[in-house]
Amino acid sequence: MSVVRCDGIVQIYKAQDVEVVALRDVDLMIDEGETVALLGPSGAGKSTLLWLLAGLLRPSAGRLWLDGTDLGRLGQRRLDRLRAARIGVMLQNPARNLIGYLSAAQNVAFAQRAVRRDRRRARDLLARVGLGEAGDRPAGRMSGGEQQRLALAVALANKPRLLLADEPTSQLDDGTGRAVVELIKRAAALDGTTAVVVTHDTTVSEALSRTVTIRDGRVGAEGRRGEDFVVVGREGAVQVPPEYHHLLPPGSMARIEPLEDGIALRRAES
Ligand SMILES: Nc1ncnc2c1ncn2[C@@H]1O[C@H](COP(=O)(O)OP(=O)(O)OP(=O)(O)O)[C@@H](O)[C@H]1O
Ligand SMILES: [Mg+2]
Repeated sequence: MSVVRCDGIVQIYKAQDVEVVALRDVDLMIDEGETVALLGPSGAGKSTLLWLLAGLLRPSAGRLWLDGTDLGRLGQRRLDRLRAARIGVMLQNPARNLIGYLSAAQNVAFAQRAVRRDRRRARDLLARVGLGEAGDRPAGRMSGGEQQRLALAVALANKPRLLLADEPTSQLDDGTGRAVVELIKRAAALDGTTAVVVTHDTTVSEALSRTVTIRDGRVGAEGRRGEDFVVVGREGAVQVPPEYHHLLPPGSMARIEPLEDGIALRRAES
């Protein structure tokens, strides 16, 4: 059974009198222990998908399952409980993941309130993100990079089933960035944590087991073991990757040539 299953997810934001379609018909299955890099240009809908998977937002249409539980069928209280116990979230803005007046250890302890408190795990996580000596300094006074590392320790505090991290290395140097990636992979290997990581950082995406690229609100491509594939979506839609736009520009007409094992698209001369 998949840990994450998205079925025809649509997200529409309403701002004043305009509607923004942030996601359209996203279908996605992610298995236990997979580490997925979520890629795509700015505004593609990556953070929106993360918010939906985190249960922080309910989709405009479509269904979303976590470990077989249909999130849309849960009332707010049960959803909150499930989130606190089973989902670790690291939002794009590091400070938003933390309680500013609490220390590093207190922030991790707070995240563990939903499960049995595990002081050893808390200490181990803080040491692994290089905050073993952070002492009593409140999180609100930490640098952006320190907050980012602490946010990951907080997100992993409960051995979550699902870790969702939005640009977890954006404020880190290469060395600390690698430590963060190692921690995510370790959680996947040791605890079976499934991770979805939004990133622009190729050292992060190359270290994870799978890539999913979102463009214009759809899953356009997927990568496994270094090879990239386009995804044939509902009704057969395929996105031509930007690197081929010079051969087949958006809006152009193409001829379809059937081959033994697929089709070829050739630009029709107009
Ligand atoms: N709260 C909101 N209200 C209205 N529109 C929104 C809201 N949040 C996001 N959007 C719009 O939805 C689309 C997707 O936004 P999203 O933040 O998911 O993109 P992203 O891929 O995370 O981009 P980035 O890489 O810049 O973080 C964008 O067009 C954005 O302007
Ligand atoms: Mg974003």
